[in-house]
Amino acid sequence: MNVINKSLSHLVLVFSPSGKLVSHSLDSQDFHINGEPFASLFEGGASLFDTLSRNETSVPGPILFLPAEKHYIYIPHLLKDPSGTTLALIMTLIPDTSLQEDSAFPDERMIRMDRLAQVGQLAASLAHEIRNPLAGISANVQVLAGTSPKNDPNQKTYAMVLEEVARMEKIMKDLLDYARQSQPHMESISLPVLFEKIKCLISAQLNKQNIKLAMEIQEDLRVRGDPGQLIQVCLNLILNASGAMPKGGEIRIQSEKTPVAVKIIFKDSGCGMNEETLFKIFDPFFTTKAKGLGLGLTIAKKIMDDHAGSMEAWSRPGQGTVITLSFPIKKI
Ligand SMILES: Nc1ncnc2c1ncn2[C@@H]1O[C@H](COP(=O)(O)OP(=O)(O)O)[C@@H](O)[C@H]1O
Ligand SMILES: [Mg+2]
Repeated sequence: MNVINKSLSHLVLVFSPSGKLVSHSLDSQDFHINGEPFASLFEGGASLFDTLSRNETSVPGPILFLPAEKHYIYIPHLLKDPSGTTLALIMTLIPDTSLQEDSAFPDERMIRMDRLAQVGQLAASLAHEIRNPLAGISANVQVLAGTSPKNDPNQKTYAMVLEEVARMEKIMKDLLDYARQSQPHMESISLPVLFEKIKCLISAQLNKQNIKLAMEIQEDLRVRGDPGQLIQVCLNLILNASGAMPKGGEIRIQSEKTPVAVKIIFKDSGCGMNEETLFKIFDPFFTTKAKGLGLGLTIAKKIMDDHAGSMEAWSRPGQGTVITLSFPIKKI
C-alpha cells in the first residue's frame, strides 16, 4: 500500500484486445501484474471489460483497483488501427479522492517527496562547491589566529569567523545528509543497547543544560532498522527537546509494544508548540530558531518513511511535546 501512496497520482494500464494486461505505469518491481486478466484486476472486471471492449464511446466511471485496494475514476480509451481493428484498451486511472479516507495523505506526502528530491539535488551540487572554500577559510583564519599575539584585538574576530565557518560546515553536512538519501542497511537492533549508545553520546551536553534524561526502554525489545540512521533520528529529537527548554527540564523516552507496532515515545517538558508551528515541523527548512536550519525533523521523518515506519507529534504551548516513532511489526 505504501508503494501506491508514494509513487502515484494516476495510473495508466494497457490491455490487449483479449483483456490481458500488457503494460502499466506502476513500479514493476513492486507489482508483478503483467499478463493478468482485466477481470482479476478490478472489482466487477469481467462485465466491465465486455462493455469497454465493445463500446467506443464508453464514459469514465468509478472503479476499485484490486492490487492497490484503491478507488479510482477510470477513463477508457480504445486504440484502433485504420481498419477499425482494436489494438488495445488503455485505462487511465485517477485517484478517487472522494472515496479515500486518507485522501489528504498521499498528496501531502507526494509534495513533500518532490521537495525532498529538489532540495537534495541542489544541496549535493552546492555542498560540493562550498565545502572546500570553507575549509580554506577555516585553515587560513586558524593560521592568522595562531601567529598573532593572544592579546591582539583581532583574536575575537578570528574566533567569530571560525565559529561562523563551523556553523556553515554543519549546515553543509546536514544538507549532504539530506541529499544522500541512502537506503537503510537493515538489521535487527536491540533498543536498550541502541539507547545506551545514545545516552553516552548526549548525556554530557544534557547535564550542562540541566536536563534530566529518563529512559524506560523495555528489555529485549527489538526493531529492524539501520542503527546509524535511527541514532540520527533519536539525537535529532533529543536535541530539539533540549532546545525547547533553555532553563532545563526533563526528557522521558519510553517504549511500547502493541500487536502491530513497536513505539518509541519522546516526551519533553519544554515550551511546546502552537498548532501553526506543529503543522509545519516536517517541512524542509521550517525553523523557529535564529540559527536553525529546519531540516532535522524532515530528515528524521524521511528516515522513518524509509523504515516503513511513522512519526507523529503532539504538542501544546507550555505543555511540552510528545514525538512518537512507530515501527510496524511485519506479519509472517
Ligand atoms: N521538542 C520540541 N519542542 C518545541 N518545538 C519543537 C520541538 N521539536 C521541534 N520543534 C519545532 O520544530 C521546528 C523544526 O525542527 P527541526 O526540523 O529539527 O529544525 P531546527 O531544529 O533546525 O529548527 C523547530 O524550529 C521548532 O520550532
Ligand atoms: Mg532540530
